Amino acid sequence: MQTLPLFDFPEDLSVSPPPAPAVTGDASARQRELGQYMTPMWVAESLVQRHFAELDANDCVFELTCGTGAFLSAIPPHVEALGVEIDPELADIARANSGRRVITGDFRQVKFDLRPSAILGNPRSA
Ligand SMILES: C[S@@+](CC[C@H](N)C(=O)[O-])C[C@H]1O[C@@H](n2cnc3c(N)ncnc32)[C@H](O)[C@@H]1O
Repeated sequence: MQTLPLFDFPEDLSVSPPPAPAVTGDASARQRELGQYMTPMWVAESLVQRHFAELDANDCVFELTCGTGAFLSAIPPHVEALGVEIDPELADIARANSGRRVITGDFRQVKFDLRPSAILGNPRSA
């Protein structure tokens, strides 16, 4: 039986990781409370390439808990994408990393002016 790899692992696993804010006492509590564990850029890129390869200019992708914006950055530039992030510091980083519009807020309360054709991401698990 042939075993297929789940991801196309890059040789250099250190490529373009999203910068994470410094961890201080308060920041570490907030990270735990909000489940702030970022997806490495190469994982986001692999998932988008493998499972969202058919996205085109008619699509609009939402990343509702976008963190530092790995998935927003991995979405091809010709595809519209919108992020939401509850932590203002991370929302700023996601904007800078991805160049995408990122709404600062709780995705459960945000009023959207767009309709998504796809929603992706790595949400908070607890
Ligand atoms: C597991 S991290 C994943 C971040 C990003 N999706 C990634 O894959 O790198 C979950 C993110 O959701 C944010 N978050 C938690 N609750 C949220 C909420 N109600 N609305 C928006 N963002 C939220 C956290 O601040 C954190 O950045």
